[in-house]
Amino acid sequence: MNEKTANGNIVLSGFMGCGKTTVGRRLAAALGMKFVDMDLYIEKKTGKTVREIFDEYGEAYFRALETETVRELSESKDYVIATGGGTLMQPQNVEEFHRGGGTVYYLDVPLAALQERLKNDRRRPLLQTPDRRAVIERLLNERKPKYLASADIVVDAGAPTVVVVERICALRG
Ligand code: S3P
Repeated sequence: MNEKTANGNIVLSGFMGCGKTTVGRRLAAALGMKFVDMDLYIEKKTGKTVREIFDEYGEAYFRALETETVRELSESKDYVIATGGGTLMQPQNVEEFHRGGGTVYYLDVPLAALQERLKNDRRRPLLQTPDRRAVIERLLNERKPKYLASADIVVDAGAPTVVVVERICALRG
């Protein structure tokens, strides 16, 4: 994919709580790009929260909605796209983002910081369990190799939002 045909999208990837949405909004504003959060996009499209979708239809249905959303968003240009924490676990979604010419940034945040940031979460269906800290650890261990393998660029994101945004801007040159 050369510069002429690449869609210029910035795809933010990483675990729940790594800052994809907050960083994405500020990054888009800083770069004069548009912003879309995949979970919010799906919620708008279905009229249900992600938690309701999981509860009523199950995780597999949500994953199919994610894949459909990735296809739709890959047609867009010059967007900062905040993925869901599980989006890039599906190889076809990684391929689709790359095929469109998007650049995938993995926001890397240490386990302990994620556990702290997510300790009071009531929104994310996968975390509504008493052994939340252990679930976060297990999921991160399972997923991290895939986050790393699917990323074009790894960003040290265990820092305040403004700093992470500056880091990404600097990496873009
Ligand atoms: C999920 C992450 C969530 C949301 C859903 C599943 C995951 O998005 O898509 O709850 O599997 O990691 P965030 O990463 O924005 O919390």
